[in-house]
Amino acid sequence: MKRYHVTTFGCQMNAHDSERIKGLLEELGLGEAPSQDEADVIVLNTCTIREKPDTRFAAHMGNAASLKRKRPGTVVAVGGCYAEAQRERLFTLYPDVDVAFGPGTIAHLGDWLGAGGEGVARGSFGTGSEREFAAGLPLHRERRFQAWVQVSMGCNSVCSYCIVPAVRGREISRRPGEILAEVEQLATEGVREVTLLGQNVNSYGRDVGSSFAELLRAVDAVDGIDRIRFTSPHPKDFRRDVIAAMAECAAVCEHAHLPLQSGSTRVLKAMRRTYSRERYLKLVAELRAGISDLALTTDIIVGFPGETDADFAETLEVVAEVGFDGAFTFVYSPRAGTEAASMDDQIPDELKRERIERLVEVVQRGAAKRNATRVGLVEEVLVEGPSRTEPDVLRGRTRRNTTVNFAGPAAPGELVPVTIEASTSTTLRGIRLAAVAA
Ligand code: 5AD
Ligand code: SF4
Repeated sequence: MKRYHVTTFGCQMNAHDSERIKGLLEELGLGEAPSQDEADVIVLNTCTIREKPDTRFAAHMGNAASLKRKRPGTVVAVGGCYAEAQRERLFTLYPDVDVAFGPGTIAHLGDWLGAGGEGVARGSFGTGSEREFAAGLPLHRERRFQAWVQVSMGCNSVCSYCIVPAVRGREISRRPGEILAEVEQLATEGVREVTLLGQNVNSYGRDVGSSFAELLRAVDAVDGIDRIRFTSPHPKDFRRDVIAAMAECAAVCEHAHLPLQSGSTRVLKAMRRTYSRERYLKLVAELRAGISDLALTTDIIVGFPGETDADFAETLEVVAEVGFDGAFTFVYSPRAGTEAASMDDQIPDELKRERIERLVEVVQRGAAKRNATRVGLVEEVLVEGPSRTEPDVLRGRTRRNTTVNFAGPAAPGELVPVTIEASTSTTLRGIRLAAVAA
């Protein structure tokens, strides 16, 4: 039997696409290999949001090329956002690529790969067909009790730094009935937590006569689903009806990932985010007023073209004022073809690095403070498995999405009460609350 190996770069959407790629390859009769070195078909599911994943992809291609020299039958298939962004040049840049496809054309992978995975479409970019949801494809789920569910594809925003709209196309919503059928099916398979995925989840539904608030309520009504998460929302589309649905639906977790990007209204305008510092802070206040015990996380970019010391100071101020439970922080990375890449006043690398170090410090201080307030509380934890570093310790997540390492007993997939005893800026530590004898 031929074997495949998939390496995933980038976001949760890509990780979920990889589950479909694996499902499809298994349907073609391939088995999974534990590493690239042992695979007949090497799949790289790429990302191109910043320069770093592009560089990592290049390193993987180096490895794949040397494997092909050793084992000439090996097929290298490249999918995802980098493949889509570089579709005109991919085979010139990397002559060892046999088959390539974009995020919207996974369904056709089998046609290009051939029934035996021999790579029939060598040297051609496997698109030309319309973008399609991968949702109808077989699924190789990585996690037993948790699942990703795609609600939309593409993005209609025009953020000036971002390559995603160019590679993932205009936004299309999946029909609510299809999404619900998938969630119901997952629930019967034992899934307790679903994460709804889209590039901008809360603009969901406009094209199919629905809304994100309606969708949350419908998913909440599915028996067996104890936790609902979603990512990523855009602050500009986070409206009252969604806040109300979050507050009223028992399964919707008390967590919002709300990308700030910058705390300076001037920079936000140049980024084309369409909200100001004040509007963002107002939304945070509305969310906190509507949903008790809400965790807030965010994404922040430093070193956007033209960002002054004063702009950056405003970002630090907003971060301190909001008190995020966590943040992904990024150094601005120019992406060819985006508006910001051709702006004057690109910030020198050294200044970007200096700023991100200062930002990370403020983020960590805030997150440590927030996590410290959980000590002494009992949190409901969904058990995921053993801790990554200590095999005798269990690992799980609270509804607010904080990782907890704790002493059992408990089994993966269980929801258990854990008394929190200690905290850091990223994790909590505790002990399972002993079951009270009846
Ligand atoms: N440079 C740096 N960070 C970026 N992001 C998106 N595009 C860029 C870029 N060109 C960040 C944003 C987004 C997250 C997924 O990646 O913060 O929310
Ligand atoms: Fe995900 Fe964006 Fe990377 Fe594509 S470019 S994999 S959408 S993070």
